[in-house]
Amino acid sequence: MSDFRTVARLEDVPPGTLVPVELDGEKIVLAHVGERVYALHDQCSHEEYPLSSGELVGDQVTCVLHGARFDLETGTPRALPAVRPVKTYQARVEGEEVQVRIG
Ligand code: FES
Repeated sequence: MSDFRTVARLEDVPPGTLVPVELDGEKIVLAHVGERVYALHDQCSHEEYPLSSGELVGDQVTCVLHGARFDLETGTPRALPAVRPVKTYQARVEGEEVQVRIG
């Protein structure tokens, strides 16, 4: 089982933002909402478009290309045209660091 690894400093992921990072070649988008930081695969499941270019709306991220929305916790699609989920990763804040586990 893989361990959590640092992908960003918390100050570089301000509340209300989407920030792209990479871990072992995996493209990940961090989403900071309230006290939580979420981590999802940084690609819409509809077409190849980065969710990090999207918009945060509550606990969902909207893909701005065609308007699909995904649950930040589960990656479940909440609005068409996407019908497949986006992969999610465990994420946590440790002190001043954002850590993700991709294994
Ligand atoms: S590429 Fe994201 S909704 Fe179409």
